[in-house]
Amino acid sequence: MRVRTYKISDVEAIIELFYGTVHHVNIRDYNQEQVDAWAPANINLQFWQDRLSSTFTYVAEEGDKIIGFGNLEDNGHIDCFYCHQDFQRQGVGSQILENIELKARELGIKRLSTAASITAKPFFIGKKFIVVSQQQVELRGQVFINFFMEKFIV
Ligand SMILES: CC(C)(COP(=O)(O)OP(=O)(O)OC[C@H]1O[C@@H](n2cnc3c(N)ncnc32)[C@H](O)[C@@H]1OP(=O)(O)O)[C@@H](O)C(=O)NCCC(=O)NCCS
Repeated sequence: MRVRTYKISDVEAIIELFYGTVHHVNIRDYNQEQVDAWAPANINLQFWQDRLSSTFTYVAEEGDKIIGFGNLEDNGHIDCFYCHQDFQRQGVGSQILENIELKARELGIKRLSTAASITAKPFFIGKKFIVVSQQQVELRGQVFINFFMEKFIV
C-alpha cells in the first residue's frame, strides 16, 4: 500500500469507495434512510471534484486500486476520511492520517479537527483526538449524530 496525493482522475473511484463504505460500513451505526441521504446513488461528480481539488487530499492505493482517502482543509479540518469497505482495520486510515498530520505540521497548523461519525470515533480516539461535543447535523432531510473532535499537534 502507498499513500500519494490526489489527482483529478481519481474522483470516480473515490466516489465509488465513498458510496460502498457508507452503505456497507457506516450502516452498522446509521439506518438505511440516513445512509441513503449521506451517500445518494446519484452523487454529484463536480461537487466532489471541487471539494477534493480545493483541499489537501491523500489517496491510499494497493496496486492501482484506491483503498482509502482523506482530505485536510487549510484551517486544520479533516473534511472526508474513508477507507474501502474490504480494507477496514488494515492500517489504511492510520497511513492516510499520518500524511495529513505531516502536511498539517508543514503548514504550521496547530489543531486538527473533524466531525467524526459514530463509526469513525474509536479510530480518532485511538489517534489521540478528543471529543469536544456531540452534534446533530442535518443532511438531505435526515438528522445524524456525529462528534466534533480535535487534536493539538506540536
Ligand atoms: C475511520 C476509518 C477510515 C479508519 O480506517 P481503518 O483503515 O479501518 O483504520 P486503521 O486500520 O488504521 O485503524 C487503526 C486503529 O484505530 C482503532 N480503530 C479503528 N477502527 C476501529 C473500530 N471500529 N473500533 C475500535 N477501534 C478502531 C484501532 O485501534 C485500530 O488499530 P488495530 O486495528 O490495530 O486495533 C474506517 O473505519 C472507515 O472507513 N470508517 C467508515 C467511514 C467513516 O465513518 N469515516 C468518517 C467520516 S465522518
